[in-house]
Amino acid sequence: MIDKFTITKPDDWHVHLRDSQMLDVVVLDTVKQFARAVVMPNLQIPVITTEMAIAYRERILNSIEKLKSENRIEVGNIFEPLMTIYLQDSTPSEEVLRAKKSGVVFAFKLYPASSTTNSQHGVVDLLGNCSELLENLQKVGMPLLVHSEVSDRRVDIFDRERVFIDRVMVILRKISKFKNSILSIFLTKEGVDFVLDDDNSPIAATITPQHLIYNRNDIFFGGLNPHLYCLPILKKEEDRIALLNAATSGNKKFFLGTDSAPHDKSFKENACSCAGCYNASHAMSLYASIFDSVGRLDNLELFASFNGPDFYNLPRNKELLTLYKEDNIVPNELTSNDIKIIPLSAGKILKWLYVAVFDFNLF
Ligand code: NCD
Ligand code: ZN
Repeated sequence: MIDKFTITKPDDWHVHLRDSQMLDVVVLDTVKQFARAVVMPNLQIPVITTEMAIAYRERILNSIEKLKSENRIEVGNIFEPLMTIYLQDSTPSEEVLRAKKSGVVFAFKLYPASSTTNSQHGVVDLLGNCSELLENLQKVGMPLLVHSEVSDRRVDIFDRERVFIDRVMVILRKISKFKNSILSIFLTKEGVDFVLDDDNSPIAATITPQHLIYNRNDIFFGGLNPHLYCLPILKKEEDRIALLNAATSGNKKFFLGTDSAPHDKSFKENACSCAGCYNASHAMSLYASIFDSVGRLDNLELFASFNGPDFYNLPRNKELLTLYKEDNIVPNELTSNDIKIIPLSAGKILKWLYVAVFDFNLF
């Protein structure tokens, strides 16, 4: 029986690290497990320019330095935040050139206006207002990351991805002349089919642990569970199965993106709960347990460590991460100073445990 499993250190292609005190609390979890992470720009004051992305990157790196000086992370730990810019109808197309020149901006992120947390300043009419910018992205070979849901309130919340594919993705796929330019968060069976539909299209998808473990029934099981409320929202069981098959198949178009989105407990357990699941604290334990549950641990490294960099033509990481087969309980609550976070699957038993190099003396 396998009781230990070592893979190339993974990357997280979709994470929310937040800012200020929350950043200082959550960044450690990501840095321990991942060598690189695509940092989403939907801060309360969104990251809308290259200059803001550079400044946000500095804050992230400073926060990591602080952890190193407190001995909470190995001094030699390498982590690269891949910065993103929040696209707006008014973003000048030259911003793409500035972003490219900076050497630290990885991509632009499309949030359809009011589709998710802090997206009210997002895009109203992508094809009408951003066509020149899209062309520039393709010219410089910079990816467009997509929150793949319409925000049209007339569309049922469970159908928003399907409608977005019909209204936007089909056109984006047609106008993409360059390789590797679009990465979407697709979390339905239709999304999986759309990616698989054309092997040569520049479209791939990240998949979160929550969408692999839960379906929409779980949101309502035994009462309303705000900690399973995330966007895109959990879908039907058949969608979960399609995602599970896609993620564990090893197919190069699907890779790891936790969409870890911390909110303080007081904002989740609230009359108007905000969307987002926090999974960064045990992301690799979750993914390993999921892959093992369907007998596909052999494909975990492809999903977590190879498919992402291969899609973006980036080098694969050199460091390693070891996972141990050992029952471990997800803490009921994570607390640091004034911040309380309820992690995904709180109180549940996981079959696998990741061990960051620095935690090695635990064993
Ligand atoms: C994210 C957040 O809170 O920033 N929430 C979420 O449910 N995933 C935003 C997002 O990625 O949609
Ligand atoms: Zn997200």
